[in-house]
Amino acid sequence: MTAPQPTTLLVAETVADVRAAVTVMRRAGRSVGFVPTMGALHAGHVSLIEQARAECDFVVVSIFVNPTQFGPNEDFNRYPRPRERDLELCANAGADLVFYPTVDTMYPPGHRTFVEVSGLSDVLEGQIRPGHFRGVATVVTKLFLIVLADKAFFGQKDYQQQMLIRVMTRELNLPTEIVTCPTLRDPDGLAMSSRNAYLSATERQAGLCLSQALRLAERSFASGECDVKQVEAAMRGMIEATPGAVLDYAVVVHSETLCPLATAEPEMVALIAARFGTTRLIDNAVFIRK
Ligand code: PAF
Repeated sequence: MTAPQPTTLLVAETVADVRAAVTVMRRAGRSVGFVPTMGALHAGHVSLIEQARAECDFVVVSIFVNPTQFGPNEDFNRYPRPRERDLELCANAGADLVFYPTVDTMYPPGHRTFVEVSGLSDVLEGQIRPGHFRGVATVVTKLFLIVLADKAFFGQKDYQQQMLIRVMTRELNLPTEIVTCPTLRDPDGLAMSSRNAYLSATERQAGLCLSQALRLAERSFASGECDVKQVEAAMRGMIEATPGAVLDYAVVVHSETLCPLATAEPEMVALIAARFGTTRLIDNAVFIRK
């Protein structure tokens, strides 16, 4: 049997339509790649779709602004939803199918089943955004079970998220391999994020202190510093000295468990988060010491 060759981007709004399209591909022996997103796509998302295109035969992208991962005072309502532009970017990046569900499709009235990854859900981002990772874990589990992809692609920018999804996928025996792709940055170092669109010019300039603090930590470890608390203090100092930046956290933790460290380990990650006006930005850098 010859597998159908999608020539134009398919857009599915129901679970049944996604399953039908994926089943046809699977029966034809095609591998399936999946890129879950909340839309407002930028070059970072495009690079994930391109990576999925390079590694898999059939590429599914989901676009769903997931209400359960937003707190009551967060930006769910103002989160950008540029549907036509997003679909065009998906098509140009090589996606075959976009799953564009409504809130009722993902959470029918009376929905009451949630997924929690204890330990990883309630530290760092999870401590500052209570319930956020419960919403992420729940929607990603549901999406994974709808698409049943061979591989799913996530950005390193959301480091804690991809680690939590790795653990959850392993512990729930979900049949999808997690691929983490590098953070894309603007030329001045700012990590790409859909939320960068909220920043004024002054806030955006101040936001550069995040990548600068990460580079400071990198130089510090490279020059032999082993005292993690010193490095954290230096990162905090740099962010706190930036006018307009309000620090949430700047830590160096174990790259898998996200547990605090006192002295440098072979595999660490620096995680930072700060607010600039009403916009929260996060960034990170992984350090592998040989
Ligand atoms: O990273 C995101 O865009 C979202 O958290 C995700 C993984 C699509 C779940 O809604």
